[in-house]
Parts: sequence; structure tokens; C-alpha cells
Amino acid sequence: MPTSVDSTRRGGTRWAWYRRWSRPLGSGVLLLILLAILAACTTGDPQDTLEIRSDLNGKIYSLYSLVFWLAMAVFIIVEAMLLYSVVRFRRRSGDGLPNQIHGNNKLEIAWTIAPALLLVLVAVPTLRTIIDTNRFPAPGPDVVQVKVIGHQWWWEVQYPDLNITTANEIHLPLGKAAVFTLESADVQHSFWVPQMGGKMDVLPTRSNRMVFTPTAAGEYYGQCAELCGTSHANMRMRLIVHEGNDFNTWAQKEQAAAAAPTDQVRRGQQVFLRSACVGCHTIAGTNAQGNIAPNLSHFGGRTTLAAGILPNTPENLRRWIENPAAIKPGAKMPAFGELLKPEDLDALVVYLESLK
Ligand code: CUA
Repeated sequence: MPTSVDSTRRGGTRWAWYRRWSRPLGSGVLLLILLAILAACTTGDPQDTLEIRSDLNGKIYSLYSLVFWLAMAVFIIVEAMLLYSVVRFRRRSGDGLPNQIHGNNKLEIAWTIAPALLLVLVAVPTLRTIIDTNRFPAPGPDVVQVKVIGHQWWWEVQYPDLNITTANEIHLPLGKAAVFTLESADVQHSFWVPQMGGKMDVLPTRSNRMVFTPTAAGEYYGQCAELCGTSHANMRMRLIVHEGNDFNTWAQKEQAAAAAPTDQVRRGQQVFLRSACVGCHTIAGTNAQGNIAPNLSHFGGRTTLAAGILPNTPENLRRWIENPAAIKPGAKMPAFGELLKPEDLDALVVYLESLK
């Protein structure tokens, strides 16, 4: 029949193609998988949770290591037994139906008790770590209190004891315990600086607390870890751990009034105070006392803007003020490029950058 001859020929061609290409394709895929696995071996990534930079992360890492190596031991034993059984009891030619058995009480008791013991081995250190990481030091000179409030889509940072309010950049002294109070002004967020410790929910309905002591100076990256709307991915933060007296220097600068203004700065301040800016932002020492957007009292001293997504340069600031939503989708700040004259925008940028 012509149709079956046709289909046989088509099938034959298809299999020839498969025979020709299966090996090179298979090797290519294997190589890609191997490369992906090897990529996990890099170190020094800014958000690597396995880089320990606080006591809290150290405690989490110890627990993680214990669970990892226990799971590894179980994996190796189970896989070894499986492979042994596959090879040793494989079907050979001439074999009939194997012996049919029903259950094995001794084995079943053993493989019920063994995992239970393993779970106890994991549970005891887990409970100890939970209790240990929820021990909060009494307030005092060696403890820094930080209140972090999540907003769509930025972080408000307050130091109640130091009378400082800033945004998106948390400064801490090396080696002192930092006690965080975490709250939200709107929806659920999650506070996460991977090298300092695990995530913690930031909720509108309750205060969560977290404590850690940074063990290495440096700049660390953090971000919101709970889907919270359009610009969730743009809700970043920096944590700066200072050595020696640098934290006090920073705090004193934040507490002091900004330097004496130039004409351009004065003009920028006028623009700020007569525009919608004052409805949302606070600048210490002025009539601007809004609290639904970041406090800008020392904006010029920050390294980034728009919740850590852009370096704080006059060009970026101008771009941001002109049209925030073009940089951070869903941003609630209006596009001032349409509301202000270009000269006023220039003065505004100079004024804000002068607030060191
Ligand atoms: Cu805030 Cu995601």
C-alpha cells in the first residue's frame, strides 16, 4: 500500500536525523547543566547568604550546615543502597518470577525510628537557635535602636534615641548590637539584608523585632523580599557598617543643620516649599513636614536615590524629579518635569544635593 511505504520512509528519515544529532546535542545539554552547577561555586557575591557578616547569620549558618550534612549523609546511604539493589538484584536471562514476600517488620520499625531520631537531632538545635536569636539586649550605650518602616516602595529609617530620620540607607557601628523594630505603613513587605541574617516580615498590623551585631565593616545590599506591588523589585536598601568613630561622625552630620545656603540653594528651597513636595516630604528646619515620602533632611549625604536603584548624582536626581514613574513603575510621586520650569528644576536639584 503506497501510504504505509510513504510513512515508513518518513519515519526512517526522522530516525536518521536523531541518530546523527543525538550525541552532540546530548553533550551540549550536559555541558550547559555542568556550567550552571559550577556557577554555584562563585564566592564574594554581594547578596550571598553564606558570607557571614553578623552573629545572627553565623547562628543561622551553623544550623543550616547541620541540616545540610545530615541530609547529605541520608542521601548517600539511600542512593548507595538503591544502586546496590538495582545491580545486585537485576533480572538476568532465564530468571523466573522472584519470590513474593509481604513486608518485613524489623526493617519497617528501623526505618520509622531512624528518621524520628534524625528529626530530634534537627529539632533540638533549631529550637535552641530560635530562642537564642530572639534574645534582645536591654537598651544602653552599646545598643543601637533602629526603626524601619516599609512603604510602597521605599524604606523609612528612624533612630529614636538619636533623633534621626532617613531613608533607604541604614548606618550601624561595627560590633554593637542593632535592635530593629519593623513596621509597615501600607502593605506587607519583608526586610532582608542577606549577609546579616534571614528575612523578617514587615507588617502593617504588628511590630516585628530582630537583633544582630555586624561583625565586619562594609557596605551591604538588602531588599524587600515580599511581593508588594508594581515596584517591589525596586525596593532596595544599603546597610553601611562603620568602623571606629565613623558612625558617630555620620550621626552628628545627620543631627546638624545643613550648611549655609548659596543663592541657587535658596531659590531651590523656595521652589521646594511652594510646590507639592511639602505635602509628602520632611526637611528638618523648614515647613516641609510631610511623612508619606522619604525624609530629605540630609538627602545629599546619601549614596543612592529612589530606594537604592540609582547612584545619587545631580543628573539622576533631575531625571527622577522629572518623571519618577519612568524610573520606578507605579511610583506615587508626580512628574514634576511637567509642573516646574527648567530653571526651577535646576535650582531644586542644587538645593536637595546641598542637604548633606
Ligand atoms: Cu516591599 Cu516588596
